[in-house]
Amino acid sequence: MKKVAVFTSGGDAPGMNACIRAVVRGAIYHELEIYGIRYGYDGMIRGDIFKMSSNSVCNIIQKGGTMLKSARSMEFKTKEGRKKAFEQLQKLGIEGMVAIGGDGTFTGASIFYEEFGIPTVGAPGTIDNDLYGTDFTIGFDTAVNTALEAIDKIRDTADSHDRVFFIEVMGRDSGYIAIQSGIGGGAELVMVPETLTSVDDVISTLKQGWDKDKTSSIVVIAEGEKEGNALEVAGQVRAQLKEKDLRVTTLGHIQRGGTPSAADRILASRLGLGAIEGLMNGQKNVAVGIVDDKLVYTNFMDAIKKEKPLNPDLIRMVNILSI
Ligand code: F6P
Repeated sequence: MKKVAVFTSGGDAPGMNACIRAVVRGAIYHELEIYGIRYGYDGMIRGDIFKMSSNSVCNIIQKGGTMLKSARSMEFKTKEGRKKAFEQLQKLGIEGMVAIGGDGTFTGASIFYEEFGIPTVGAPGTIDNDLYGTDFTIGFDTAVNTALEAIDKIRDTADSHDRVFFIEVMGRDSGYIAIQSGIGGGAELVMVPETLTSVDDVISTLKQGWDKDKTSSIVVIAEGEKEGNALEVAGQVRAQLKEKDLRVTTLGHIQRGGTPSAADRILASRLGLGAIEGLMNGQKNVAVGIVDDKLVYTNFMDAIKKEKPLNPDLIRMVNILSI
């Protein structure tokens, strides 16, 4: 293998730049020619591909977002789109790729490998931490810290006004960001899709707190919560607790931006180097990950499909610590 490419795809995540840097520098260290593809699969289809050097990735390790840009490509979901992408790679003689992204990115890479045989190693980059085969995904730690900072600030105003706040955090169908930011932020309750929490449970937890003279409360809700989003849950609670002053905050995309944490930069660097070295050593159709501090490679389909359950101890802990 002489020529390889790297791209980022799907939702951006803090630390993606550190990962790109590690892939590029790792490739150059091992005397490979390395190309960057802008805008993920869309850019691959358009041929938005350029040669990278060690200098291309100077001064990016500390930056959020992705210097290669990102997109959620609809065209790559079609066979014609993927054929165009393959032709663009062929033109440049690209023989392998590192794909930095989440489940959509890995699904695309896996189909592409089956159809056109281009070996790809994925590096898990998503704030959601919803991929099997790695303890943490790139961007998760920073997103949790961003959510936590917001929760701390909301706590101040909640306390001043004796209010109940419902705070919605991202995570798609996963409750990882919610559980970690909820524990770190001292929430009274965390609602995650992985466990059942009814509106009645919410009301009784809040009442328990008031009975013990708590004057304000924080409920963290994962965006994928089955009882509804924060506005809907708050609406149902409000209907039964008319005397209480409730507010709703949806943190949204601020969780995707910002300077990556130390943990994310280090994780991204390890995964980036692991991805490029794996590719060189014949790995394909797999995602690199770190489990128990060891580099591992997991088949794309397992990384996407296998369940990554929340630690039940964490859920139990929220209930104990919020009494
Ligand atoms: O996968 C990352 C993520 O931020 C999810 O947490 C969220 O559900 C989704 O992407 C939002 O996607 P978009 O930026 O396309 O609205």
